[in-house]
Amino acid sequence: MSASGNTIDTLLEERRSFPPSDEFRRRARVTDDSLHRAAAADPEAFWAEQALRYITWFQPWERVLDWELPFARWFVGGKLNVSFNCLDRHVDAGRGDKVAYHWEGEPGDTRTITYAELLAEVCKFANALRALGVRRGDRVGIYLPMIPELPVAMLACARIGAPHSVVFGGFSAEAVRDRMNDAEATVLITADEGWRRGGRVPLKRNSDDALQQCPSIGSVVVVRRTGGDVSMTRGRDHWYHDIIQGQSSVCEPEHMDSEDLLFTLYTSGTTARPKGIKHTTAGYLLYGMFTHDLVFDIQPDTVYWCAADVGWVTGHTYIVYAPLGNGVTSVMYEGTPDHPARDRWWSLIEHYGVTVLYCAPTAIRTFMKWGSEFPAQHDLSSLRVLGTVGEPINPEAWMWYREHIGGNRTPVVDTWWQTETGGILISPLPGATTLKPGSATLPLPGVAAAVVDEAGRPVAAGSGGYVTITKPWPGMLRGIWGDDERYRQTYWERFGDQYFAGDGARIDEDGYYWFMGRVDDVMNVAGHRISTTEVESALVGHLAVAEAAVVAKSDAETGQAISAFVTLRAGFEESTALITELRSHVAKVIGAIARPKWIAFTPDLPKTRSGKIMRRLLRDIAENRQLGDTTTLADAGIVEDLRRRATEEEGKEG
Ligand code: WTA
Repeated sequence: MSASGNTIDTLLEERRSFPPSDEFRRRARVTDDSLHRAAAADPEAFWAEQALRYITWFQPWERVLDWELPFARWFVGGKLNVSFNCLDRHVDAGRGDKVAYHWEGEPGDTRTITYAELLAEVCKFANALRALGVRRGDRVGIYLPMIPELPVAMLACARIGAPHSVVFGGFSAEAVRDRMNDAEATVLITADEGWRRGGRVPLKRNSDDALQQCPSIGSVVVVRRTGGDVSMTRGRDHWYHDIIQGQSSVCEPEHMDSEDLLFTLYTSGTTARPKGIKHTTAGYLLYGMFTHDLVFDIQPDTVYWCAADVGWVTGHTYIVYAPLGNGVTSVMYEGTPDHPARDRWWSLIEHYGVTVLYCAPTAIRTFMKWGSEFPAQHDLSSLRVLGTVGEPINPEAWMWYREHIGGNRTPVVDTWWQTETGGILISPLPGATTLKPGSATLPLPGVAAAVVDEAGRPVAAGSGGYVTITKPWPGMLRGIWGDDERYRQTYWERFGDQYFAGDGARIDEDGYYWFMGRVDDVMNVAGHRISTTEVESALVGHLAVAEAAVVAKSDAETGQAISAFVTLRAGFEESTALITELRSHVAKVIGAIARPKWIAFTPDLPKTRSGKIMRRLLRDIAENRQLGDTTTLADAGIVEDLRRRATEEEGKEG
C-alpha cells in the first residue's frame, strides 16, 4: 500500500472526451449497450448465440462451457474446421471473387488474392504437408516474412489439424531452435530470405543454424522470396513451389473438436523464459471474429489494415483468423514504414482506400517524431476507424493520431488485450462509446473485468490497482504448452479465482479503464506508487517530446527516484535548459512528487521487435548495472549509446 492508501496512485487527469458522431452512428453496427446487458444477464446464453451466428459447425456442441478453475472448455463436443470457416463457406456463398488480401511487398511488388484463390492455395499446400507425412496433432513450425505464404501456411495447418507455432521473422536462430524443441515440431516452413528496410534477413541460414539442434524436425519447406542463394539439404529441404506443384486444389478439412489445439504462440519475452501460450479451435475463432466485427465496425465495403506482424498474436488474430472468418478484405504489407520513404503507410492507405487502420502506439509516436508533413501528403479520407494496441497510448499521441491520420473525424479505439486473452478484452465500440484520449474505456460485452487491491477486492472509482478477469471467456488461453503448473502460478495464484493480467490500471468515475503498464514497472517514490505510463504521458504532452520511457532508480532519499529517457520531435534541440523545463512541466501537470530527478535525451528507445519499451534494460542502465537478457531487443546499438549518455548526464542530477 502507498502513503495515500491507494494500490497505485493516480495523478494524471484527462478531461477531453469524444462521443460518437451522428454521421458515424448512422452506419454503425452497435450504437447502444444492449449487447453488454444481454451478455451480463446470461453469459453462456450470450456466447451460445454468438457461436451460432459467427461459426459454421460440422456438428453442434453439447455444452457451452465446462469450467474447472483454471481450465476452461468451450462449446464442448462441437466439431468444426477453422480454415473451412475462413475460406470455403465464403466461396460456397458466392463471394469467391472478393479480395482477401491486397498484399504489398517492401520492394513494391504486389499480389491481389481472392478468397477462391486463397482456398485453392491453402488446399494445395495442405495436401503437400500431408504428403510430407504431417498428421493431425503434429506440430509445425513457421518462420516466414510477411508474405501471403504465411497465412497460407497457418490455414493449411488448421485445415489438416496440425497445430502451428509461428516464430516472428525478426527472431534469431536460437529463438527458432528453442521454440521448435519445446513443441517437438516435425516440419519447419521458412523462406530463403525476407526484406527489411531494403536489406535481406537470412531466414534459411538462421533455420539451418537452428536445425543443427532440433532433432524432431524431419522436413523443411522453403518459400522463394528474394531469390537469394541458399543451401538446400537433400532429403530434408523442399522448395514450396516444387511441393505444391501437381497437388489438388481440393483438400477435405479435418473435423476438429472445439477444444483441439489450433496453435501455440510464445509471449514476447520482456521478462523471463518465453511461455508457449495454447489456443484452441472454437472459442478462439469465435472470440476473434466477434471482437473484430464489433470493435472495428466491419461493413461489407470495409478495407481493413492491421499493420502488426503475423508473428505476434495481434497478427494471428487480427490479420489472419478474424478478418478471414468475417470475410473481410485486408491489406497486408511486408516492410517497414520508412521504406523507401516516411510516407509509405499513408501512400498505402490512399492507394487501397483503407477504411480501418490498426497499429501500435510505438508506431504512432514514431510518426509524431517524423512530423505531420508525411501523412499530410496523402488523401486519408477513406479512414473510418483507427485502432491501437500493445501499450498504453499517451493522450497526446492519441490526439495526434485522431487529428493527423483521422482528420479530426474518426474514432480511435484503444484496445487492451494480451497473447493470453486471444482477442481484445477492453475497448470502445466506436458507435456506442464516448471516447477519452488515453483510456481503453470499458470491458467488451461478455467480459467480466475488475481493478482490485492486494486482497483482490475491487478498488473505488478514481483509484488504481491490478487488472483481473473474473469469469472465463471463449478466447482465453487454455494453458502453457507442457507446463500446467506454471500456468496456474503465473495467472491464477495471486488472486485465487481471478485471472491476473499483470497490468495495473485506474478506474474512473464512469468505470473507464486507464492502463498504467505492467505492475512490475510501478515506481515507489517516497511511499507513493507512481505508474511509469503517467509520467511518460506528461512528458509526451510537452511540445518538444515525441516519446519517453520512465523507470525507477534507487535513491537514498526517496527510496526510488524517477529517471526519464526522452526522444525529441523533429526540429527540437537537446539542451540543459530543456531538461529543466521538462522537469518543471511534469511537476506542473502531475505534481512535484512525479518530477523526474534525472532526464537523458536519446534518439531512440530500446524496444522489443513488437515495439514494447524494454524498461528492464533501462532500469539496468539507470542503475549502472550489468545488462540482463538483450536477445529480444530490436536494435542493440541503442543500449550502448544510452549507457554513454547516462554516464554523461550523471553530473546533471538535481
Ligand atoms: C500491453 C498484445 C495498455 C499490456 C495484444 C499487456 C496494453 C501486454 C494495451 C500484452 C493497451 C496491450 N493499453 N497496455 N491498449 N494493449 N497492452 O501479449 O501490458 O504482446 O499485458 O499482446 O501489452 O502484450 P502481448
